[in-house]
Amino acid sequence: AKARIVIDPAFEVGAIDRRLFGSFVEHLGRCVYDGIYEPGHSTADQDGFRADVLDLVRELGVSTVRYPGGNFVSGYRWEDGVGPKDERPTRLDLAWHSTETNEVGLHEFAAWAKAAGVEPMMALNLGTRGVLDAVDVLEYSNVPAGSTLSDRRVANGATDPFGITMWCLGNEMDGPWQLGHCSAEDYGKLASRTAKGMRQLDPSVQLVACGSSNRAMPTFGSWEHTVLKHTYDDVDFISCHAYYEGTPGDLESFLASGVDMDRFIESVVSVADGVGAELKNDKSIMISFDEWNVWYQKRDRDKNTIRGLDNWPQAPRILEDVYNVTDAVVVGGLLISLLRHADRVKAASLAQLVNVIAPIMTEPGGDAWRQTTFFPFAETARRAVGASLRLRIDSDTHDTAKYGEVDSIDAAATHDQQTGTSSLFLVNRDHQAPSTITVDLTAFGGATVQDAFVLSDADRFAANTGEDQERVGLTELTSYKINGTELEIELPALSWATLTL
Ligand code: AHR
Repeated sequence: AKARIVIDPAFEVGAIDRRLFGSFVEHLGRCVYDGIYEPGHSTADQDGFRADVLDLVRELGVSTVRYPGGNFVSGYRWEDGVGPKDERPTRLDLAWHSTETNEVGLHEFAAWAKAAGVEPMMALNLGTRGVLDAVDVLEYSNVPAGSTLSDRRVANGATDPFGITMWCLGNEMDGPWQLGHCSAEDYGKLASRTAKGMRQLDPSVQLVACGSSNRAMPTFGSWEHTVLKHTYDDVDFISCHAYYEGTPGDLESFLASGVDMDRFIESVVSVADGVGAELKNDKSIMISFDEWNVWYQKRDRDKNTIRGLDNWPQAPRILEDVYNVTDAVVVGGLLISLLRHADRVKAASLAQLVNVIAPIMTEPGGDAWRQTTFFPFAETARRAVGASLRLRIDSDTHDTAKYGEVDSIDAAATHDQQTGTSSLFLVNRDHQAPSTITVDLTAFGGATVQDAFVLSDADRFAANTGEDQERVGLTELTSYKINGTELEIELPALSWATLTL
């Protein structure tokens, strides 16, 4: 396929918020236990956190980390996870049919986040709890001292408040699978009351209302409308969640998953702005795309079902998807979609971080390694600095079963005024042939390529595993040339690439 792209730093979509490169740690499977936390591991620090995992988290360039769930949070009592470890209760986690020992809780997570250099983003239980618990955990976390709850935090070892700014008002409350699932009307009222209470305590918090669990939910659109009618003045963000998986015989649609993400974001922005218009409110609600990834849910559903009153495993191996080259190209494409909407998507979380549908995998007592999806995320997080640019893309198209005709080549670009550098992110959705992309750099008066990398492989199913941890990685992209103000790039079939100018 062929595409022509015009890039001009004068045309900005918006500033890129670093929180676009967030991730997610849930008490689920081996994400926390045997993931970030393994006190017996040879690299464990004094708090029991694996230093090899911390190194990879830093390398990944993650900005925020959402915690402690996910579906888990709707049955969670935050107080279970504070105080002396040997006095913490053992609970049944109904979301994942597992045993929660509470060995890791708020203090441990705050310490881990500090060590990882990430900002914690807390999710509240609005499935089975309400306003008082939300206000309590906020007081415990953010009030310096002088009240019973803040003094308890100090007594439990944290003299300085945690200073948590971002809070999710529940999780996926539109989903019938959610513990405490309710109607948009009921959730909207609860979220509004909770938000008002929290702001009475700490006006500086930034709050995220639950949007839809995906665009295919039967209530999609009307859910956002109703929830925002109740919460417009109270919240800063509405959430989007989306997971993509390939279906046999339809590689074209899978590679075009970014089209679904584009439509999802644009629909939610329209609904939010529509509510603003109805309410005669000029405020703009931002999007927190706080769960997104490739996830082979159909496969997991068959494989990972734990059942039985006497069967509640601890940290079971569930949702441990092994990602291949195709999955990484899709993840790269999804990051392009997020960047393209940087004016309204001001936060996002790759779900999740370690072992559970994750870019980082570990073995207990063994290694930690990078999945294929690690690479597009890390490169985008590192290079996408400054503003996202509005590109003109004229691409050949092809047909897909799910999304109709789509561009064969998709792209995003960023420009950092401070350094004068621009980065280009490209995905070749053509899985049969290489593509040629001509980039018009007239606005720059020409440019030079500082470096360029590509992710592709003769075997699109190639993956990194415990046995072969470095099978897939980035390779230097050399198939480009500059003719005056034109950059011509040849991309292999089914590939993701980035160039910094
Ligand atoms: O990330 C895995 C799960 O996906 C989360 O717990 C839930 O919020 C979503 O359905």
